[in-house]
Amino acid sequence: MTIPRKRILTGDRPTGRLHLGHYVGSLKARAQLQHEYETFLIIADLHMLTTKNERSDIDQIDENARQMVLDYFACGIDPELVTIYLQSAIHEVYELNTLFQNLVTVPRLERLPSLKDMARAADKDEMPYGLLGYPILQAADILTPRAHLVPVGKDNLAHVEITREIARRFNYLYGDVFPVPDALVPEIGTLVGTDGQAKMSKSLGNAILISDDAKTVRKKVFSMYTDPNRISADIPGTVEGNPVFIYHDAFNPNLAEVADLKERYEQGRVGDVEVKEKLTIALNNFLDPLRERRAMYEADTGFVDEVIYNGTLRTQEEARATLFAAKKAMGLTGVWNRIGRRVEKRQKRLEKQA
Ligand code: TRP
Repeated sequence: MTIPRKRILTGDRPTGRLHLGHYVGSLKARAQLQHEYETFLIIADLHMLTTKNERSDIDQIDENARQMVLDYFACGIDPELVTIYLQSAIHEVYELNTLFQNLVTVPRLERLPSLKDMARAADKDEMPYGLLGYPILQAADILTPRAHLVPVGKDNLAHVEITREIARRFNYLYGDVFPVPDALVPEIGTLVGTDGQAKMSKSLGNAILISDDAKTVRKKVFSMYTDPNRISADIPGTVEGNPVFIYHDAFNPNLAEVADLKERYEQGRVGDVEVKEKLTIALNNFLDPLRERRAMYEADTGFVDEVIYNGTLRTQEEARATLFAAKKAMGLTGVWNRIGRRVEKRQKRLEKQA
């Protein structure tokens, strides 16, 4: 007998193309872990609705999902190895969400800074009920394939913690159905934006996209924020926390070159232009094989749709089994079955009397 592999569930809201922050924060880890774990990647369109639910947002899901999945493939995620699925097509997730809502308190959710951040980012001064429930829906996702490991960015750590609480609470109340999943957060943490803001984000306009061409990367690097005190090349600069050097550390494999640039920067013996020129080269060298893979998959018309389609059918089966196990453990299937049997009896009795 072969031992089934442990499972991963993770994914993203389909809000568009992905950037280097996504790569550093999660895509790289996914591409590595796909060989060791059975990996499910969710296109979390229901989560997108918690902040963007206008018809125009919804109409963009198809194209956004396609671009996002192409970015996955660009980063080395292998369509042969992983299961990619569309959240809104898994009916059982809506049901699990309802069942799990009773296992978390409102104050527990209200304390999460991540939800307030999302509400603020979406210009909502009052929290929609669905947004408050965001982590519960995420728990429903994670527990659908009964995943063991959830590789996520730091901002999602608290949601995995809620998932763990829900799994434990469920198992305690009704019996062992769910593994208590572990979060896996990358060490490097969040990648700063090109403007030096704490977080790279497309909506902040400070992102380098995985699908950016070489010229665009160059333009973005040359407009990057550096040490603001350094008004000329002969003024000693600060390397620590400087976005150009954070990117050099993350993407330039030539460690000697990076060390040399840092040293000269601190001594006031290098201009921003040289630092940025070398960063442009490093980033484009890094992105070239990704661009090549992306173009290859993009040329195969309909391929991404087929991957999502098959992955969703596969996940629907998993979800049916999990929801059934959950309802059975809770005794909920029994209520409905007993009603059915009593109705059957009654009809037989009425038939006899007639
Ligand atoms: N919350 C994730 C985000 O920030 C998306 C997501 C939805 C997710 N369900 C998930 C991530 C389950 C990991 C596991 O976009």
